[in-house]
Amino acid sequence: MNSNAVPEAPPKALESLFSPLDLGEIRLANRIVMAPMTRNRADARGVPGDIVVDYYAQRAQAGLIIAEGTWPSAAGQAYCRQPGIASAVQIDAWRRVTDAVHARGGSIVLQVMHAGRIGSGRIKPAGVETVAPSAIRASGEVYTDAAGMQPFDMPRALASSEIKRLVEEHGQAAINARKAGFDGVELHCTSGYLPMQFLCSGSNQRDDEYGGSVDNRVRFVVECLAAMAQAIGAGRVGYRINPGNTFNDCHDAEPEQTHVQLIRQSAAMELAYVHVMRSPLAELDAFAMARQHTPAALIVNDGFDAASAAEAVAQGRGDAVSFARHFIANPDYVKRLRRGQALARFDRKTLYTPGAAGYSDYPSA
Ligand SMILES: Cc1cc2nc3c(=O)[nH]c(=O)nc-3n(C[C@H](O)[C@H](O)[C@H](O)COP(=O)(O)O)c2cc1C
Repeated sequence: MNSNAVPEAPPKALESLFSPLDLGEIRLANRIVMAPMTRNRADARGVPGDIVVDYYAQRAQAGLIIAEGTWPSAAGQAYCRQPGIASAVQIDAWRRVTDAVHARGGSIVLQVMHAGRIGSGRIKPAGVETVAPSAIRASGEVYTDAAGMQPFDMPRALASSEIKRLVEEHGQAAINARKAGFDGVELHCTSGYLPMQFLCSGSNQRDDEYGGSVDNRVRFVVECLAAMAQAIGAGRVGYRINPGNTFNDCHDAEPEQTHVQLIRQSAAMELAYVHVMRSPLAELDAFAMARQHTPAALIVNDGFDAASAAEAVAQGRGDAVSFARHFIANPDYVKRLRRGQALARFDRKTLYTPGAAGYSDYPSA
């Protein structure tokens, strides 16, 4: 029996979380998904090492792990020691992670995250520019090893021809992720990073076919998804949204309309899933909105506990539920739910610090 097998019957109230699910080509043993979490544990070249292998292997009981936001090219890096999926060394290193998760019976996809204007030249290799849809600086700061907290760079606006290249880069990232053994990829379209910078009217003031109208603002994301689907098959591609989210200074005049358009335009692609976060806008039920406009499976997220997650799946609001914070200090979260065991609390101080402490050293119950 592999270590992913958890033989006991789950509590009756949580049964809906423990049935298997196919998200396109990706097979989940249960509906408990580990949400993507940036933990900044790679080395200075963006290469994940032994502790990253341990960390994900420990959490392989999740029906699906969505590995942390990972850059497709050096310009897309936001944080020190954030991993990449661009070089052969990075691909080989991730292969060790995916092999360890698969050996324990788990499934794992990679979140592809280009940060656009969220970043600093002090984090990226010399000569790598910070780029964005428009030359508008995001307000806020980012930690750099070189000089402590630094304001986000003033980005250079991308030329139309460069956008085509960036779209291709996303297709290549999907190919690289498959080479690294991932079961698929998720495009990160929330939290003010590049895809969301294109979606939002505040950060996208372009006057070409990638800016202005809603159709134009969703174009970059739709083209990236199409490139990724073309590269590895639509059934291995998902994307993550959070309509109304203003993190990293992202503001859209009409977040609901923008996201409805994105969901509609990608609905015919037959993607593996849409990963929807609860909207911070009180009047917007983002889960219902997504259900209405796409036949794709939904992973829902944000603030769930086991009981509310089981209810959401039982009621059909989501096909699976992702959890982030619960997985930090509970590597065996799935087993604890099944057995009704208490949950451990995590230490905020070690969320992003180098080394195993507060990362891969939380014990199983
Ligand atoms: C330490 C940490 C890092 C995160 N990094 C990412 C990330 O890389 N990509 C992403 O889409 N969301 C990221 N998130 C958001 C989580 O995936 C999730 O949406 C959020 O924590 C709410 O889910 P929860 O209530 O289950 O924790 C992060 C959250 C935390 C706590």
